[in-house]
Amino acid sequence: MKGIILAAGSGTRLYPASTPISKALLPIYDKPMIFCPLSVFLLAGIDDILIITNESDLPNFRKLLGDGSRFGITVKYAIQYKQKGIADAFLIGEEFINKQKVALILSDNIFYSPRLKTVLSNVNLKNDGATIFGYKVQDANNFGVVEFDSDMNVISIEEKPKDPKSSYAVTGLYFYNKEVCEIAKSLTPSNRGELEITDLNNSYLQRGKLKIEFLGDDVLWIDAGTPASMLEASNMVNKLELRLNRKVFSPEEIALEAGLISKELLLKSISQYNGSSYYEYLLGLAKLP
Ligand code: G1P
Repeated sequence: MKGIILAAGSGTRLYPASTPISKALLPIYDKPMIFCPLSVFLLAGIDDILIITNESDLPNFRKLLGDGSRFGITVKYAIQYKQKGIADAFLIGEEFINKQKVALILSDNIFYSPRLKTVLSNVNLKNDGATIFGYKVQDANNFGVVEFDSDMNVISIEEKPKDPKSSYAVTGLYFYNKEVCEIAKSLTPSNRGELEITDLNNSYLQRGKLKIEFLGDDVLWIDAGTPASMLEASNMVNKLELRLNRKVFSPEEIALEAGLISKELLLKSISQYNGSSYYEYLLGLAKLP
């Protein structure tokens, strides 16, 4: 299954921290942010991944993730030269998608739940149009927001509305069928000159092919695009790791558990982390009988 991680934003809300480097390479507690969406894709069984970055950050992403073989997956890279919006990912990624189903995740979206694997695998199986994920928030005006009829059917999605019609934000994880590139091509840029993901989802809705999956209290979701939400996400990871006595958002561990890599490969690939607690942790996993 194919997936795109969009990590091409300029991260303006994080300046000056993100001035020299993509926000997706900044840390969420003890790992680079991109490990979070990468972990989500690995849990969902997505093993053919395109990372869309800006030109200057591409070598850094490549240094961190390589061709994906050490996670037992394929990772390729593409550049978004101009900020043309989230749905532009489907124009940039058309050849990669190759008329297949594809998932998209925004690099600053952090999802955690012990049930995530089950939820995502089910969605992946069932999706024959577009599937979005709704999450109840207090600041809905900062997101794409879902409007419902009295039976909780989706009527429309509005991007960052002044007066949100519900408290359900659309998270930055989307599953699409093979029509996505053609539908993305039919979009016109919004007032801010971008191909909006919300317009793409509304197009699926008009075709009667949009499903919403509600993420409940057992899922933690953070859009880590601001200093405060990055700190919140870091604190969450720190607390989870202390409480669970294990690392979370470790693509290597997920790959090992999924049988994508062997302990021998893990052992070989982790020397680059030598000196860190992450190295010690993975070394422990590799040496477990
Ligand atoms: C984007 C989308 C928005 C969505 C959000 C989720 O907004 O445009 O619809 O709710 O991601 O993180 P951004 O955070 O890029 O402003």
